[in-house]
Amino acid sequence: MRRFENKRILIGVTGGIAAYKACDLIRRLYKEGASEVVVMMTKTAQSFVAPLTFESLSRSYVYLQDMENTADGTPAHVSLAQDMDVLVIIPASANTIAKLAHGFADNIVTTTALTFTHKPIVVAPAMNTRMWENPIFQKNLRILKALDNITLVPPEEGELACGEYGDGKLADLETILLHIYKAMHPQRHLYRDKRVVVTAGGTQESIDTVRYITNRSSGKMGIAIADELFAMGADVLLLHTIQGLDRPYRIIRLDSAEELGRYAKRNFKEADGIIMAAAVSDYQLPKEQKRLLPGKLKKQETLTLELVKTPDILGEIGVSKKESQFVVGFAAEYDHVLLHAREKLERKHLDMIVANDISRRDIGFGSDDNEVTLLFRDKERVDIPKTEKTLVARQLLVHLYQKYLAKREDEPELQEDSLTEERTSD
Ligand code: CTP
Repeated sequence: MRRFENKRILIGVTGGIAAYKACDLIRRLYKEGASEVVVMMTKTAQSFVAPLTFESLSRSYVYLQDMENTADGTPAHVSLAQDMDVLVIIPASANTIAKLAHGFADNIVTTTALTFTHKPIVVAPAMNTRMWENPIFQKNLRILKALDNITLVPPEEGELACGEYGDGKLADLETILLHIYKAMHPQRHLYRDKRVVVTAGGTQESIDTVRYITNRSSGKMGIAIADELFAMGADVLLLHTIQGLDRPYRIIRLDSAEELGRYAKRNFKEADGIIMAAAVSDYQLPKEQKRLLPGKLKKQETLTLELVKTPDILGEIGVSKKESQFVVGFAAEYDHVLLHAREKLERKHLDMIVANDISRRDIGFGSDDNEVTLLFRDKERVDIPKTEKTLVARQLLVHLYQKYLAKREDEPELQEDSLTEERTSD
């Protein structure tokens, strides 16, 4: 993923044991395309991690003093606030949060934060549970939360460095990265107030307690869509089948097509739309056979399984949908891609279908890239050329918005960015 392509990211490290986690963050930012990462540290932060560590990782000078000038003689806080795209304070101590809330400027981090007006600041707190729960601290936090340019990344509950258990553990790295991405996203309000259900991954149909039938879907496309929706301000629910996924929005892990169908239909009722990127198994064991499932089938020379079709979740949702809701499906096809996709769009009563050619090895299943064609109800067709799944997701969501949501009253205006697709009619 290259979510931070050409971005200049300023990191403010303050005092706390979680300071070492800023090291990983810097590496990930560069890996995802950042053009420059610059670090500044408070005095206490320097007791936890040596400035040289950050200098090596950021490949850049580390700012430590309040009254420092850059090489060209400009005060550092002014120059950094002018040049950098986002400020990330990680970890943000209770002390720093108190200073930010009340406009103190007594070290390089707080002085630069105060100069970072109208630019995105991401604050990732980490501290002892009792400090986190302290009403004075919570009051300071509310002051920050109310500011438009500040994003707070809530800490997690867990075992803390001091040995206690509770709230205050620095958020997971993926979560922090997604919040930074959102803070700089050009369309971060596009799906504001929209509730969207997304499904991702291949379902698993049990044969017995240890074996199951599944498919090669990695779930990457569905996750990219859910992440992008989050970054565009939506209230996302991701129903998925992937192990070990951690996200700052609601996620529910499940296994079978039956389970996925139950959750998808139930949550769709209250949603503005659904995007079914999951590769739902077409077959499952018949109900009467399922009663035999517990345990492990003994090995035999041959094994014959009778399978029956799974219910068509998307088809059922498509028929039941209200006019105000959108329903999007995927068609992973080996041949006659557009023909099959168009047939599914109509059969399942969809608003949009995302067609991709799985005969190609360089895109689709398991790959980080995809190349898709969007087909709409009114026969419009949009080709999205090969690019990474995050960018496919972004373009797909912008088109969906333009087609079905933009015309409604009070929706935010779309700020076009460089969409590189071709629009035609099929
Ligand atoms: N889908 C679904 N329920 C199923 C099968 C598929 O909701 N039991 C959804 C998928 O999530 C996808 C879309 O329907 O968004 C198309 O899936 P696909 O497997 O391509 O279509 P099928 O209807 O199963 O047709 P076929 O397998 O014959 O191509």
